[in-house]
Amino acid sequence: MIAATDFIPSKYSQTIESGNFQWSAPSNIALVKYWGKKDNQIPANPSVSFTLNTCKTITKLAFAKKINTGNFSFDLLFEGKPKEEFKPKIQKFLERIEIYMPFLKDYHFTIDTENTFPHSSGIASSASGMAALAMNLMSVEKALNPAMTDDYFYQKASLLARLGSGSACRSVKGSVVVWGNQANIEGSSDLFGVEYPYAIHDNFKQFQDTILLVDKGEKQVSSTVGHDLMHNHPFAERRFAQAHENLDTLIPIFESGNLEEFIKVVESEALTLHAMMMTSMPYFILMKPNTLQIINAIWKFRNETKTPVCFTLDAGANVHVLYPKSSQEKVLQFIKDELVGYCQNGQYICDEIGIGAIRN
Ligand code: DP6
Repeated sequence: MIAATDFIPSKYSQTIESGNFQWSAPSNIALVKYWGKKDNQIPANPSVSFTLNTCKTITKLAFAKKINTGNFSFDLLFEGKPKEEFKPKIQKFLERIEIYMPFLKDYHFTIDTENTFPHSSGIASSASGMAALAMNLMSVEKALNPAMTDDYFYQKASLLARLGSGSACRSVKGSVVVWGNQANIEGSSDLFGVEYPYAIHDNFKQFQDTILLVDKGEKQVSSTVGHDLMHNHPFAERRFAQAHENLDTLIPIFESGNLEEFIKVVESEALTLHAMMMTSMPYFILMKPNTLQIINAIWKFRNETKTPVCFTLDAGANVHVLYPKSSQEKVLQFIKDELVGYCQNGQYICDEIGIGAIRN
């Protein structure tokens, strides 16, 4: 088994004065949800997600050698302009990953980042943002150690991304990504995301995710606080076991392409996630009235038309509408006719399954 200590490098073969890289990394949407964690960003249960394609973060990283004064040194730009309020999160990230990247204090970094989706859309940018930064840092390490294998590169990128934000480790490589040790998924690990290793039916190729922007406001409860509330949660143990079961259930579904069974798992996972929020202490609700309106409209449409469309939710009010490519025309028409009215300013984003981070 691979251990975290395997990613602590010994000595680098090269020295390098300065350079720059650019990577883009997508967001991802979990089918089986990560909710609850242990120390060091170790998940309480395994999760699986579809990697997205359109919603992504593009990050440029410039680096130049400096005298090591024992501090991290970096500038953070968002859409080309300094963004002080993002710096503490990056500082914390660098502290967490320093043991794996002993060169960090030898360089000054300029991190220039932007998202393809609107800033305050309520779409979390932590997954794509942390993944894009992790990819860039791995490119620096690869320059210091050109003998590095691709497997090491991507595993370590995912491990670093995880330390930035758990779900970010699923935004590195692959279309269907598993994170967290699961008995029946070979190679699965708590340390990094892995590409789902078994057969995936054509029904899931080009799978569509239309994100309905119900509420773009700041969340009242952050994911970090939510995860924390799973400690001492009355249903935590059962929930964590259920995530293992649901992943097991998905294995034959991915292979057969049985969308009816797929829908049951995915919608149940979304509602369970929110049920955990509603039953924690303190309890909270992130869904909005329009979230429920949309869910009910999807159920009605599915019943009446037998179209294999379903929803999932993140830690927020927005609704991800999931459906196969073959139903695209019908579902988009349905969204325009019946769901747009529930979206803030009529906004929604059409996305689909992608492949992971790309070096630009
Ligand atoms: C509801 O990855 O944002 O989206 O590790 O604290 O950064 P941190 O949490 P984060 O949690 C995401 C939770 C979720 C479910 C999921 O993506 O699996």
